Amino acid sequence: MKKIAYINERIKSFNKKIYVPGDKSLSIRWILLASQAVGKSVAHNLLKSEDVISTLNAIKKLGINYKINKKICEIYGKGLNGFNFKNNTIIDAGNSGTLARLIFGLLVKSKNQIILKGDKSLSQRDFSRVINPMKMFGQNIKSKNQKLPIKIKGTNYPRPIKYYENKGSAQVKSCILFAAMKTPGTTIIKSVPSRDHTEKLFKYLKLPIKISKNKKFDFIAFRGTKNYKGFNYTIPGDISSSSFFIVLALLTKNSKILIKNVNVNKSRTGIIDILKIMKAKIVLKNKQKYNGEEIADIFVKNSNKLKSINCPLKMNSRSIDEFLLIFLVCATANGVSKFNNIGELRNKETDRLKFANKFLNKIGVKTIMTNSSFKIYGNPKLKLNKTYKIEKFDKDHRACMLSFIAALSLGGKWIIHDIDSINTSFPNFISLLKNLGAKIS
Ligand code: S3P
Repeated sequence: MKKIAYINERIKSFNKKIYVPGDKSLSIRWILLASQAVGKSVAHNLLKSEDVISTLNAIKKLGINYKINKKICEIYGKGLNGFNFKNNTIIDAGNSGTLARLIFGLLVKSKNQIILKGDKSLSQRDFSRVINPMKMFGQNIKSKNQKLPIKIKGTNYPRPIKYYENKGSAQVKSCILFAAMKTPGTTIIKSVPSRDHTEKLFKYLKLPIKISKNKKFDFIAFRGTKNYKGFNYTIPGDISSSSFFIVLALLTKNSKILIKNVNVNKSRTGIIDILKIMKAKIVLKNKQKYNGEEIADIFVKNSNKLKSINCPLKMNSRSIDEFLLIFLVCATANGVSKFNNIGELRNKETDRLKFANKFLNKIGVKTIMTNSSFKIYGNPKLKLNKTYKIEKFDKDHRACMLSFIAALSLGGKWIIHDIDSINTSFPNFISLLKNLGAKIS
């Protein structure tokens, strides 16, 4: 694939219906859960991106077979104790933080050692967040500075744990729940709310999970070690991938878009609520319950009267992967937007707060950044006419795709490097943009 894209003009107004690929979080979870089921599981609309392929490669290394073609993916699970692999088997999680964190849970009882590694960006990220709870289960973990590569070996006698998850991290919560599946007794998690796909899948599989909530926390109790049969699942469209098109339509004169069959799980729709507070015209149509998740079609119309936001803290985890796009919208809104407690953005594929700060300054937008807060001085008349080069972003797929949306909606001449990073989550991103009329070479 070509590594550099050139964009020299804004996209013309469009009015289209599109489909985005399957949700990444659900695709990875489905593969990992199907690998633990007894018998064949089948998925439709599985995302075929690099993070998902890394997950399929990982279960294969652990002794689980699968078949994949254009339409479906089949996984032949062997139950909770079905992994079979040689000592010092290497698993390469590539760029996927979700795979790398969740796989710890499934290895809680592994008899042989796994060496878990990842790409350059993943090898700079923090794993103490899963190492700490997994050691409490009794897992043996060896690492330098709690970073990849990490050696993982299970225990014959995992102990159920009580854990306070205070980051609002769904990866940590899901890692613990995966370990709890294989651990006799009841594991209890008190957690700052975060995306709840794992809990919803457990309910769909009728596994013994109990959840209660108060204003600040979710309380989850899960009893291991019940086997379950293979299951069929259709993966709905990804809200995070949809968001690039939501923002493009919002910022492009006289444009409209309808994005079909998107997963609109409440724990993921922060961007929609934030943009609505900013006076964006967004409507969810055809809402339906679907395998325990919710789906809808998202309709968005261009708005030129966007106003700034003082972002409520409860939105942070609900829009964690969409902040770069939200910041771009704030750059064109009337007034000063404020975000607090967003330090977790520094722990993503790149330091997204630092990236956003540099990016907005590059396009002439004033910002104030602290360790965990961000202020953006919006300019509703923002139009770009210089040349902008985007490089050195640790190949963060979302940073890369943000640059396309800024270029196509605000103008200027853009040279965007490392566009192969997009394959991490959204391989047909550029072809969908071209279908809307974007000129990209
Ligand atoms: C994910 C959880 C989030 C998110 C990531 C996917 C998941 O990470 O940023 O892209 O599928 O569980 P954290 O759990 O670290 O917040």
